[in-house]
Amino acid sequence: MTDVCVLGLGTIGLPTAVMFASCGDRVVGVDTNAAVRNSVNAGEIGTEEPGLQELLRQVLAAGRLVASDTVLEADAFVVAVPTPLTPDHRPELSTVVEACGMVAPRLRPGNLVVVESTVPPGATETAIAGALEVSGLRAGKDFFLAHCPERVLPGAILREIVENSRIVGGIDAESAQRAVQLYGAFVKGDIQVTDASTAEMAKLAENTYRDVNIALANELARVAERAGVNVWRVIELANNHPRVDLHLPGPGVGGHCIPVDPWFLAASAPEEVQLIPASRRINDAQPRLVARRVADMVGHRRGAKVALLGASYKADVADSRKTPALDIIDELEQAGLTVALHDPLVRNLAHPLVTLESALTGADIAVLVVNHRAFESMDPEHVGRLMRTRVIFDTRNCLVVEHWKSAGFQVSVLGIGVPAQAISG
Ligand SMILES: NC(=O)c1ccc[n+]([C@@H]2O[C@H](COP(=O)([O-])OP(=O)(O)OC[C@H]3O[C@@H](n4cnc5c(N)ncnc54)[C@H](O)[C@@H]3O)[C@@H](O)[C@H]2O)c1
Repeated sequence: MTDVCVLGLGTIGLPTAVMFASCGDRVVGVDTNAAVRNSVNAGEIGTEEPGLQELLRQVLAAGRLVASDTVLEADAFVVAVPTPLTPDHRPELSTVVEACGMVAPRLRPGNLVVVESTVPPGATETAIAGALEVSGLRAGKDFFLAHCPERVLPGAILREIVENSRIVGGIDAESAQRAVQLYGAFVKGDIQVTDASTAEMAKLAENTYRDVNIALANELARVAERAGVNVWRVIELANNHPRVDLHLPGPGVGGHCIPVDPWFLAASAPEEVQLIPASRRINDAQPRLVARRVADMVGHRRGAKVALLGASYKADVADSRKTPALDIIDELEQAGLTVALHDPLVRNLAHPLVTLESALTGADIAVLVVNHRAFESMDPEHVGRLMRTRVIFDTRNCLVVEHWKSAGFQVSVLGIGVPAQAISG
């Protein structure tokens, strides 16, 4: 049995703490937010993550996990606190450094510290080791230090935290081995061992690959619209090539990692990067393009009502972090349109959420931002009866266009251009 102290009980830290506890470790979860501590100790998770609440309640009942505001002595410390971006797109490491500063007074010779927070290459060996060495102990000599990034999918975290392969990067071989031993308690996927900087960069490379790939898809969508071609069919066909894996275009890239991590990488060598910031800008421009197209479709009529459908950053999750929906709303409101936003899963957002009926009633256009299953099965006749005008814009290519056209809808799909013969004819 190991005593583990997990700092940060959010999306990553809480399931990690619960997994250690469910394997028999004694776990103290430290969070600076009292509301988070209270809900964890009450067995409430505050999000919809299958299985997590039940497992949390089991480990609480077994007395193996407690949330606290105080770091206690432990065999291993796991840091999973936020690492956001500064307004000028640089990594903001102050929280991770602060958390390591909280660990330092409790650090004892032989302890292991693992950082799960996403950090730029080199941070574990410099800023993080430095914050821990305030203890008077030396990283790699007196205590072990490793970076162990996470790649779980919200909505499937408990399965993926066990099954996914993991990268463990130690500041030396012994640190990596200690971290492998710690995670081996519950990780069933491969654990690949490397040095800390390589592990840090591999995590960033994964999400940068996805961002650049989506940017390419968005650019192809723009070309297809001009060329009178259907980009979705183009991508489907191109992906039959055994070595091609194009992602899909959309209304913008949201979520906690993909819009952030490429900037971490870019900030590490600003004089070298061209593709990474260009891709970020392409993806960040998508909400503006969507809003412009909507304004065109309602003839730039001030006060026209837009029913915006979808507020999460992707389908069938309640997670709305960095959702493009908010940027689309800003652009639409600046263009003088009114927006009624509906999402069947998202509960809290900076913009008010209304029911589907209320969003659609009297609307001049419906805009599908997220391909939630609930939207795909909407009845065009029912939707049409509620709306003022039967106009719909699908940014995810998830509607069956013929059904909507038969119900008298004017249908537009992102990335589908009008063929030249249709314009001339
Ligand atoms: N969410 C993901 O899917 C995901 C995936 C891979 C990596 N990451 C990375 O993991 C890290 C954590 O992300 P998250 O999504 O779990 O964040 P989160 O915002 O969900 O949770 C972070 C928690 O840390 C707490 N906290 C802040 N400062 C603290 C401190 N000094 N001591 C203790 N607790 C503190 C906050 O109150 C919050 O509850 C980030 O670096 C993120 O980039 C996240």
